[in-house]
Amino acid sequence: MSSEAPLSGKTAIVTGASSGIGRAIAETLGGAGAHVFLSGRTASAMEASAKTIAEAGGKAEGVVADMRDPAQVRGLVDRAVEATGRLDILVNNAGVSFPAPILEGDPEQWRTMLETNLLGLLVGCQAGVLAMRACGAEGHIVNISSIAAQRPDSGVYGSTKHAVNAISATLRGELEEDPIRVVNVMPGAIATNFARNFDPAFVQGFVKMAGLDIEVKAGERLPDEVFEKLSESLKQLLGDPDDVAQAVLYAVTQPIHVNIADIVVRPPKQLNL
Ligand SMILES: NC(=O)c1ccc[n+]([C@@H]2O[C@H](COP(=O)([O-])OP(=O)(O)OC[C@H]3O[C@@H](n4cnc5c(N)ncnc54)[C@H](OP(=O)(O)O)[C@@H]3O)[C@@H](O)[C@H]2O)c1
Repeated sequence: MSSEAPLSGKTAIVTGASSGIGRAIAETLGGAGAHVFLSGRTASAMEASAKTIAEAGGKAEGVVADMRDPAQVRGLVDRAVEATGRLDILVNNAGVSFPAPILEGDPEQWRTMLETNLLGLLVGCQAGVLAMRACGAEGHIVNISSIAAQRPDSGVYGSTKHAVNAISATLRGELEEDPIRVVNVMPGAIATNFARNFDPAFVQGFVKMAGLDIEVKAGERLPDEVFEKLSESLKQLLGDPDDVAQAVLYAVTQPIHVNIADIVVRPPKQLNL
C-alpha cells in the first residue's frame, strides 16, 4: 500500500463489517490505506474481507464482538489502540431491523434493536472519542442512520434511527472544540442482508425479480450472488453498499475544518424502510 494512499497511517474501526454496508466501508477504507479493524459476530465473513484488504496491500483484522454488550464495544476500541497505538475513524454501522406494527411487536426484538442500534453506537461514540483524544488524532465518528429517520412513522426501527440522528447532532456540538468531526449517514434501500428478519415472502419477491431460485429463510443470510444480481437488475430500487462506502470515504478524507455533517445516499426510487 502506497504511503500516499489518503488514509495511510490511520486506524479505522467498522462495526457490522461482516456483511453489507459495513463490509463495503471496511474494504473501501482498507483500500484507501487505513489499518482496518472489522467487527461483527461472524468471524468467517470478516476473515474473507481482511484477506481481500491484505491482498490489495492493506492491513486488516477481524474482531468478534457483540455491540449489545458495552464491555465488548470498549474491548474492540482497546484492541485497535493496543495494536496500532491510535484511532482515527470509527464507523458505528452495526444495526438490525425487525419490522412489525407496534401493537404486534415483540419486546425482545425491540430490545435487540435498541441495544444494537443505539446502546452499542453510544458506547462506541464515547469509547471512540476518548481513544481519539488520547492519541491526539484528527478523527471522524461516522454513524450509520437511515432514511427511516426522515419519516415520522417508521416504527421502532425508525425511532432508533431518529435517535441516531439526535445523537450525531448532539455529539457534533460536544466536539466543536476538538479536531473530531461527526458524520451522520442516512442510506436508502441498499441490497444487503438487512432484510434477514423481514417476512421471507417479501424478500422472496425480490430474489425472484433478480431471476434467482433460492429459498429465503427468516433470520438467515443470503449468498453474495443474490445481492450482486439484485443490485444489477433492480438498480432503480436498491442501491449498492459501495455507493454508501464511497460517501463515507469522501467524508473522512476532507480537511478537519470541514464537517460533512449529514449524507443521504439512496437509489432513484425510494422504498420506505
Ligand atoms: N440495507 C439497507 O437498506 C439500509 C438502509 C438504511 C440503513 N441501513 C443501516 O445500515 C447498517 C448496516 O446494515 P446492512 O444493510 O449492511 O445490513 P446487514 O447486511 O444485515 O449487516 C448488518 C451488520 O450488523 C452486524 N450486527 C448485527 N447485530 C449485531 C450485534 N449484536 N453485534 C455485532 N454486530 C451486529 C451484522 O453482523 P453479524 O451478522 O455478524 O452479526 C452485520 O455485519 C445498519 O445500521 C442498518 O440499519 C441499512
